[in-house]
Amino acid sequence: MTSPLRGLFSLASFVGDDVPRLADDEIHPEELAHVRHAVATRRAEFATARLCVKRGFAAMGVAPTPLLPAADGSPKWPDGVVGSITHTRDYCAVVLGREPPLRALGVDVETVRALESGVVELILTAREHAWLYSSERRSARSLEEETLLFFSAKEAFYKCQYPLTRRMLDFKDVELDLPPQDGRFFVTVQKRDWPRVVARLGGRFAFVGGRVLCGVELAA
Ligand SMILES: CC(C)(COP(=O)(O)OP(=O)(O)OC[C@H]1O[C@@H](n2cnc3c(N)ncnc32)[C@H](O)[C@@H]1OP(=O)(O)O)[C@@H](O)C(=O)NCCC(=O)NCCS
Repeated sequence: MTSPLRGLFSLASFVGDDVPRLADDEIHPEELAHVRHAVATRRAEFATARLCVKRGFAAMGVAPTPLLPAADGSPKWPDGVVGSITHTRDYCAVVLGREPPLRALGVDVETVRALESGVVELILTAREHAWLYSSERRSARSLEEETLLFFSAKEAFYKCQYPLTRRMLDFKDVELDLPPQDGRFFVTVQKRDWPRVVARLGGRFAFVGGRVLCGVELAA
């Protein structure tokens, strides 16, 4: 079955998803070494993502190779490959592409839920907060759904920009615009001295089966 994420990526070569399960003995020993002492839920999401990556590499004709995390947790993709991983308690997804036509991509999926007010305060800038709570916001989605969309879109953007900048961003360092054209968003970094190539990127989102899905692609 085609992943609901497929429609969010026009340049990606592979989109794979699965339900997280324990698969210690099906991943490369070098990969297992990274989570050997982790709790079962972490081992399951890590291994399921690696099995999706393995399928993706095979589909793309990339030689089988372990996908190891760098010290900062970001995945170390083989030369010429870009990708991104996301997992929730009951869902795991991997998106892969070739460089070119892609330079980077980011994916994030969240289970629809109400975020705690303290978390919302950390995520939204004053302008975003004012827009979300104003009468200008004409959306069929609930406030909870739309707040979560802001969270997820920023995470997808973060994963896309990170391989190029290797720099951290706080949620309030970036602002989201949701144009009336449904299913698209734009993320703009509010910091001076930020590399122009990743200062403003567009992305796509969808609400499917109780989840919000967000994808950001940067073309080469
Ligand atoms: C890295 C981060 C974005 C991951 O998001 P998350 O919702 O916690 O978790 P997800 O399941 O969606 O994603 C996990 C995957 O992200 C990937 N990842 C981790 N660090 C990453 C980074 N710096 N850049 C790109 N991808 C990264 C990994 O592949 C990881 O899966 P793996 O450990 O199995 O390999 C998040 O933990 C984080 O550090 N956020 C702080 C930065 C931020 O979000 N700033 C605000 C937005 S601008």
